[in-house]
Amino acid sequence: MRQSSNDLKQRAYNRVAEQKETVASDSYRLHYHLMPPVGLLNDPNGFVFYKGKYHMFYQWNPFETKHGAKFWGHYISDDLVHWEEAPIALAPDQWYDKNGCYSGSAVVLEDKMYVFYTGNVKDEEGNRESYQCLAISDDGIHFEKKGPVIRVPEGYTAHFRDPKVFYKNDQWYMVLGAQTTAEEGEVVLYSSADLMNWRFLGSLVGSGHNGLGYFGYMWECPDLFELNDQDILIVCPQGLAPKGYEFQNIFQSGYFAGKVDYEQVSFDHGTFVELDRGFDFYAPQTTEDARGRRILFGWMGNAEDGDITHPTVKHEWIHALTLPRELKWENGKLVQQPVEELKSLRREEVRHDDVVIEGNLLELPEVAGQIVELELLVKDWNASEFTIQMGESTKIIYDQEASLFTLGRAGIAGDKVVEYRRCVVRNLEHIRIFKDASSIEIFVNNGEEVFSSRVFDNPEADSITFYVNGGNVKTDIKKWNLDRVFAY
Ligand code: FRU
Repeated sequence: MRQSSNDLKQRAYNRVAEQKETVASDSYRLHYHLMPPVGLLNDPNGFVFYKGKYHMFYQWNPFETKHGAKFWGHYISDDLVHWEEAPIALAPDQWYDKNGCYSGSAVVLEDKMYVFYTGNVKDEEGNRESYQCLAISDDGIHFEKKGPVIRVPEGYTAHFRDPKVFYKNDQWYMVLGAQTTAEEGEVVLYSSADLMNWRFLGSLVGSGHNGLGYFGYMWECPDLFELNDQDILIVCPQGLAPKGYEFQNIFQSGYFAGKVDYEQVSFDHGTFVELDRGFDFYAPQTTEDARGRRILFGWMGNAEDGDITHPTVKHEWIHALTLPRELKWENGKLVQQPVEELKSLRREEVRHDDVVIEGNLLELPEVAGQIVELELLVKDWNASEFTIQMGESTKIIYDQEASLFTLGRAGIAGDKVVEYRRCVVRNLEHIRIFKDASSIEIFVNNGEEVFSSRVFDNPEADSITFYVNGGNVKTDIKKWNLDRVFAY
């Protein structure tokens, strides 16, 4: 028997209430990142500025810390920093979305919010169907489902999902993540005059197009927007082999920049560039706000089987979103900076100017803490290697000779093995670090590279130390404690 929407939502609310204490007692619960109240969170969805407020929805399984039939959870904010939990937006309660209201996006037309998502359906044998569905809201809180507006076209498998809708050239467009029947990943393009009737325009880019060669068996979560005259396509290809320091995580998340020809349905683009160099980043989504800023949130996780080993699972929750980042196109590159509103989290500034770091681990007065922002300006560099150690296990290393920036963390399985992610950085000029109770986000050289990762260190370990090998480094160092935004 099909469960009514209200039953299903009520079961989710009951679970939140039942598990509240278990979740709240976790010392790894984050202080200023969006998390699920219980269960599993994955992709950010429907990110939109509507009637003066930011709306963020997310893929949510309230019943388990595993993937399953996803709901759309919902948060609302005035400032991208302080969020209020809103009622569940979508529950998987219809024939066309019964195995999950999968990822999608939101746009605003004549004061109404239009939400597009993928209805995921599986039969007893595990065969998949997918429907691109629409739901409409007058108040940004209650949604009326309108059902499927797009079915899978000829030439594609049921891995056809994650609609991102945008307005351009006086009409609506949608990009979708797709897999061809030859099992190659693509992004396809649709257009619409009224958001109800959609026309398939064709494949825009993908594995095997534009000299890309084989580039994965499925592309998820596309997002296409213009920034400083560049068309930027963010996408998440699955099935890329590791290459040097790149593509180290199970699935990738990056962008192509270039020029889209909407008439010819083609995209003249450069190479694929990873958006984040850390362990935990996937399925990002952007929106443009009223000030014209292009803002991105990502899922601070990835689809590892290793999910079950996160220590938070004992407390009945898993995963979080990243901090919001403002995107800019500078010197032929996408640059990502934490939004300026995050400065409102700062408390108790500690400042040390012209610190010359040389040799042994150096601790600076009052530079310590688990939940902090740390900013370093490099003023003079005469060294081969510079290390910041946070707590017992998190290491941030810059090796000048190899031009290599490295993040090391204790293995997620809780053993003593340290694992690393790396990328090339030509010169180290600036580092800004946001450390939360079990996460770290590092912005290198004002957002030229970003590393996002969960870290599960000893919750008592709060030292921050500096070390320089082969010379000395002169820096200005600032540290702030950061406010707690979420009550639990
Ligand atoms: C990406 C993804 C999407 C899908 C959603 C399901 O993480 O696999 O492609 O819509 O998660 O939760």
